[in-house]
Amino acid sequence: MSTRTVIRGGLVITASDELHADVLMEDGRIAALAASHTPAAEALTAERTIDATGKYVIPGGVDAHTHMELPFGGTFASDTFETGTRAAAWGGTTTIVDFAVQSVGHTLREGLDAWHAKAEGNCAIDYAFHMIVSDVNDETLKEMDLLVEDGVTSFKQFMAYPGVFYSDDGQILRAMQRSADNGGLIMMHAENGIAIDVLVEQALARGETDPRFHGEVRKALLEAEATHRAIRLAQVAGAPLYVVHVSATEAVAELARARDDGLPVFGETCPQYLFLSTDNLAEPDFEGAKYVCSTPLRPKEHQAALWRGLRTNDLQVVSTDHCPFCFSGQKELGRGDFSKIPNGLPGVENRMDLLHQAVLDGHISRRRWIEIACASPARMFGLYPKKGTIAPGADADVVIYDPHAEQVMSAGTHHMNVDYSAYEGRRVTGRVETVFSRGVPVVTGREYTGHAGHGVYTPRSTCQYLT
Ligand code: URP
Ligand code: ZN
Ligand code: ZN
Ligand code: ZN
Repeated sequence: MSTRTVIRGGLVITASDELHADVLMEDGRIAALAASHTPAAEALTAERTIDATGKYVIPGGVDAHTHMELPFGGTFASDTFETGTRAAAWGGTTTIVDFAVQSVGHTLREGLDAWHAKAEGNCAIDYAFHMIVSDVNDETLKEMDLLVEDGVTSFKQFMAYPGVFYSDDGQILRAMQRSADNGGLIMMHAENGIAIDVLVEQALARGETDPRFHGEVRKALLEAEATHRAIRLAQVAGAPLYVVHVSATEAVAELARARDDGLPVFGETCPQYLFLSTDNLAEPDFEGAKYVCSTPLRPKEHQAALWRGLRTNDLQVVSTDHCPFCFSGQKELGRGDFSKIPNGLPGVENRMDLLHQAVLDGHISRRRWIEIACASPARMFGLYPKKGTIAPGADADVVIYDPHAEQVMSAGTHHMNVDYSAYEGRRVTGRVETVFSRGVPVVTGREYTGHAGHGVYTPRSTCQYLT
């Protein structure tokens, strides 16, 4: 039986257009758009009509960087695929791309199978996977080809975390050469982890154990150096490169310079780097641990370069790097030793709202908001135009967004499975009202109407982002 819903009278915003239009959804897809109050719009009939007058009608968010249930530092990220995707839906995100992990000594396929087992039947919204490559060897390289054919078209490598996820330059070069051949995209955690570990040891020896020292040892220059090295290795390999969680002015400069030279290098930043700073890391009574992530939060002065990069398209994507650990029992593992604080911040529910606030604050335009949060991540990771836009044939992943509603972010009201909010008490204007995932309402007028298992695995094509 066909189910049709028409959303009337809203301002439809995509990466390229803003227009008052009625949107018809049928059988999980966008069937048609027509300018509101025209005969063409009146001809769009449906079993169900939703009035979106005064609201925005936007594509569901695409969060291309999440870590549900990630094992890290002897514990696990506190959101499961069930709780994390539900929170994502609440925040207007309808697709996540999570990171499956290859453990050292195991195959990519084993890691991927394990992540499928965690996610399958549990997700409220659609999901896809990148693959973390921790063990580059001949077998792994061959497997990369198979994964690309199977819809896992991007691979994260780490220049940080020696002994855990770390790859040396030779391993990175080999993986990049392979991705140049098979169409995969290497995503880089660009920090010089070998040098950082020396600085960590020296800091701890001086008795510098508080969370704020996490930010001090993970220097901006060591992010920039690794970013530069990754760019040059990619250039030698003839491969494109996507640098994740860019936080330092100097790293943005490396990306901008490479892009000016015409290299296919891309960058992502995250809300925590745009809205938080080392002031948070320095909060007393170990509260700073709530803000420990890598790359680390930077002094406030770095934010301007990130906003500028987002405006000039030297940075293309804002994803969350959602990787929550409860303050109680998890972040606390690092009391007396900042290097034992599990790295990561919660944020999958907050991204669309924080970036809408950035529109109001004049950092980006409305269309750029949709571009960096929906369309560009979908293009970058081979999900466009199925995801990331509102156009005939696209999945009916649609958010009705109230741009005037006020909210105060808080752990008391959020839906992420974590005992604090990184944005506690922050007032923002704008709020998700209703969310459709493939035409099914998963949030309806501030009520959760979705269910675990509605979300399906979504294989991806290769990167479609060419400039
Ligand atoms: O601190 C972070 N970012 N934790 C998640 C793992 C990673 O490096 O992305
Ligand atoms: Zn990382
Ligand atoms: Zn991450
Ligand atoms: Zn369902």
